[in-house]
Amino acid sequence: MRILIIGGTKFIGPHVIRLLLEEGHDLTLFHRGKTSTNLSENIQRIFGDRNKLDQHSNVLQKVKADVVLDMIPYSEKDAQMVMKVFSGFAERVVAISSADVYRAYEILHRIKAGPVQEIPLKETDELRSTFYPYRGKIQEDFAHDYEKILVEKTVLNDTNFPGTVLRLPMVYGPHDPQRRMFEYIQRMKDERPYILLDERMSDWKTSMGYVENVASAVVMTMLKKDTASHVLNIGEKEPLSMLERIKEIGKVMNWKGQVISVPEGYLQNEIPFDTQQELVLDTTKIRERFNYMEAISHDEGIRRTVQWELANLPNESPFDYNQEDRMIHTLNLENGRH
Ligand SMILES: NC(=O)c1ccc[n+]([C@@H]2O[C@H](COP(=O)([O-])OP(=O)(O)OC[C@H]3O[C@@H](n4cnc5c(N)ncnc54)[C@H](OP(=O)(O)O)[C@@H]3O)[C@@H](O)[C@H]2O)c1
Repeated sequence: MRILIIGGTKFIGPHVIRLLLEEGHDLTLFHRGKTSTNLSENIQRIFGDRNKLDQHSNVLQKVKADVVLDMIPYSEKDAQMVMKVFSGFAERVVAISSADVYRAYEILHRIKAGPVQEIPLKETDELRSTFYPYRGKIQEDFAHDYEKILVEKTVLNDTNFPGTVLRLPMVYGPHDPQRRMFEYIQRMKDERPYILLDERMSDWKTSMGYVENVASAVVMTMLKKDTASHVLNIGEKEPLSMLERIKEIGKVMNWKGQVISVPEGYLQNEIPFDTQQELVLDTTKIRERFNYMEAISHDEGIRRTVQWELANLPNESPFDYNQEDRMIHTLNLENGRH
């Protein structure tokens, strides 16, 4: 298959590329060339900024892609430009979206008051009614116009150029720019006797996905024509609570310490969200209708993540262990333990 990827060189993309190359597909990447990665010489590259995608129309259309994968559609304009440039010049488009489209997200982040949305969230469930969730909250360029709901609508609206939308969970793994497991791995490596966890987070569940498994779901969607016009959730079959996740990391690292639940108001970085609302995705559709299965086991995904984090830890821990010790002391006194 001839495949054109917008983006593809940072975190999830390199695994998508590897899997596609292993199957012998013909790849072209469009990106700015700022994020470098060791790419095979067999990949054709077109350099440019997606904000000016239409200025590259000629060269992009000449690729005659069977599938265009847009790894980074953030705004309505991003999606409109992709549809305009490739309609008539490619057969299908696959767009990467996010679990943040569901109403649950605005409840969780206290963007809007309302009843908790029932989980697990199916693809047909209610979406947010408030738009632009990161506007004014994140300083990065993409944040102001970021709205995956509008991206999805645009991609699904063109009957002549069918689109597939993939709703991703929180993704973790080696090279994770958000380093979601770092705070636990650093403390375990430092043989801390305990890790403090806000008690409201202990049982809280969110869907996550190991990066290589998420990439294989993306690849499967690109290769299966009958995924066209579908919206698909991606994520673990059975999400764990935060406490369970930390314990899993501990098991892999052979950590002998203890996770201690701390009441609201004690920790420096207070959690800003409403943990009554969980963000768990129902992944039945991609599994049953399209036979998706994870290739990498949960334990192995954690093991690979731990291995990468350990090789990339800072020289000094950024955490204030003295302060944590003082807090434990206070908590013990308050609980009558000495
Ligand atoms: N990580 C998560 O937990 C998570 C959760 C939900 C959804 N997602 C979605 O996953 C996607 C991102 O995943 P990823 O970072 O792993 O993707 P990736 O495709 O591996 O990397 C991002 C790519 O975008 C390119 N890029 C960035 N800005 C560009 C621009 N203005 N013009 C052209 N190319 C540009 C970068 O290359 P250059 O810098 O060289 O241009 C890089 O190749 C997003 O759609 C995000 O919403 C992620």
